[in-house]
Amino acid sequence: MNVKELAKKYKQYAIDLRREFHMNPEPSMKEIRTSDRIIEELKNMKIDCKRVAGTGVVGIIKGNCKGRTVALRADIDALEVTEANEIDYKSKVDGLMHACGHDAHAAGLLAAAKILNDMKDELNGTVKLFFQPGEETAKGAKKMIEEGVMEGVDGIFGIHIWNDTDVGKVSVEAGPRMASAGIYKINVAGRGGHGSMPHQGVDALLVGSAIVMNLQSLVSREISPLDPAVISVGIFNSGTRFNVIAGEAYLEGTTRCFSMEVNDSFEEMITRVAENTAEGYRATAQVDYEQLVIPTINDPKMSAIAEGAVEKISGKDALITYEKTTGGEDFSFFTQKAPGAFALVGSKNERKLQHFPHHHPRFDIDEDALETASALYAQFAVDFLNK
Ligand code: NI
Repeated sequence: MNVKELAKKYKQYAIDLRREFHMNPEPSMKEIRTSDRIIEELKNMKIDCKRVAGTGVVGIIKGNCKGRTVALRADIDALEVTEANEIDYKSKVDGLMHACGHDAHAAGLLAAAKILNDMKDELNGTVKLFFQPGEETAKGAKKMIEEGVMEGVDGIFGIHIWNDTDVGKVSVEAGPRMASAGIYKINVAGRGGHGSMPHQGVDALLVGSAIVMNLQSLVSREISPLDPAVISVGIFNSGTRFNVIAGEAYLEGTTRCFSMEVNDSFEEMITRVAENTAEGYRATAQVDYEQLVIPTINDPKMSAIAEGAVEKISGKDALITYEKTTGGEDFSFFTQKAPGAFALVGSKNERKLQHFPHHHPRFDIDEDALETASALYAQFAVDFLNK
């Protein structure tokens, strides 16, 4: 049997598992039951596996012939959302839900493991199955890489179930696909005083306001208009009372972009503007910058393999283009170690279920997407190794 036929054979397996994961969501980096079940399933298939990054799992399928190594990645964590769907596989955990579809990723990759395990005599090389914890907090991929999972990996492929796209359709074009994300925190120190005598103090609230305004000039004046970028301020806290000059201010915000060049310039730009603005008002500013994820950029060769795989399993019409999105993905860190491609696998079907976006309390998917997901994972691995 080929990949497509095997994906059909294991479709119900994937659906059952997805529903089980859906009923038992776990928070990021605490996917204890989920990873136990993944290990149990891999052991049932007699696939070598080990725990990584706490609650992550890596499974290894060795082909009949020696060759390169490909990694397939599924994230497995849920979200702090209370499920509002009335379905028989509704989340059993109050306040937690698989509202992003990672239950489908885990189930899809386990079904792909079955497919590849059945076909291992035909594989030239090794498949590493990455079940990654903590995607929502952008901690899991980094931790797995620190523990060496990318050693010897020649290419990596990941998917995201995508509710903004019709079931059966897949987007995996080359180039930027998802944005970087950074968090900056700015502490402004002035000098407090009486609101009636502002000249005796240094008004940190005014300094903070000026920083908010000046940060807006970075995207409009320093970054190329051909390079999309965002610098948003999300928190601005200052002041305690109507007649007190604020001695401190606190700002926090996020950055997004699609190129490493812009991404690498954010920290310097924000620090320069905050420090120099504060200095102009006789205050000081201290900036902390944390990189959550870098941009997810599909390697052209890897995208071409993935597009070929989509055509094999679903036909030419299944391939669509989809505008890159400002959401972030820590899959991007894997692509710093080996070329990679990330596919969006459509799961919307308004004839079957009402459509809700990712992270919505009524998020749900057309489970036909599981067949596409598992077939695509497996076909990508076969084509990458046997090329
Ligand atoms: Ni997600």
